[in-house]
Amino acid sequence: MMVPSNIGEVLFTAEEIQAGIRRLSGDLMDTYKDHKFGVVSVLKGAAVFTADLIRQLPRELKLNFIVASSYHRQEMSSGSLTVEYMPPSAEFAGQRILLVDDILETGTTLSHLQNEILRRGAREVKTCVLLEKRVSRTQKVHADFRCFSVDNIFVVGYGLDLAERYRNLPFIGVPREANR
Ligand code: IMP
Ligand code: MG
Repeated sequence: MMVPSNIGEVLFTAEEIQAGIRRLSGDLMDTYKDHKFGVVSVLKGAAVFTADLIRQLPRELKLNFIVASSYHRQEMSSGSLTVEYMPPSAEFAGQRILLVDDILETGTTLSHLQNEILRRGAREVKTCVLLEKRVSRTQKVHADFRCFSVDNIFVVGYGLDLAERYRNLPFIGVPREANR
């Protein structure tokens, strides 16, 4: 495995991530049973995770994307969310939605989007994240499904960025520059 020198530590290898996703897809199938559901993925961070996750879900499902960001340049969550694209309400009306994001930190992103999808007529919205940070949430929201928990450090790779870099790393690691 090639690890760039500006990555101080690898937290989850590509193999560990795939094993985590297989476990997660089992939990999802146990929960949804025969119910139909739609996957809604939050770009850009959840793109890589979503691509692997849906291929482990042996089910007819619809895939939609939301484009949103809560980070503005720096590494701190800003507390406000910018939604750049949201599918039309017809994609949500009456449906069970699985909202997929890369990481749950303050909860700003997921609580806002969960409410917005419900407002657009979904009958249910469950949340699913690759990572959950062990921090106190400013918003009342929890992850119904998660692959891994991490301490309160800034992580990158497998979709997660630092100022748009590192999304293409196949593993999740800790960039030296953001955790000094
Ligand atoms: P929240 O809205 O504060 O829960 O933050 C969630 C969003 O912030 C995620 O969708 C990520 O894009 C971003 N984020 C939070 N923590 C990290 C991190 O450690 N690395 C990269 N992005 C992060
Ligand atoms: Mg981001």
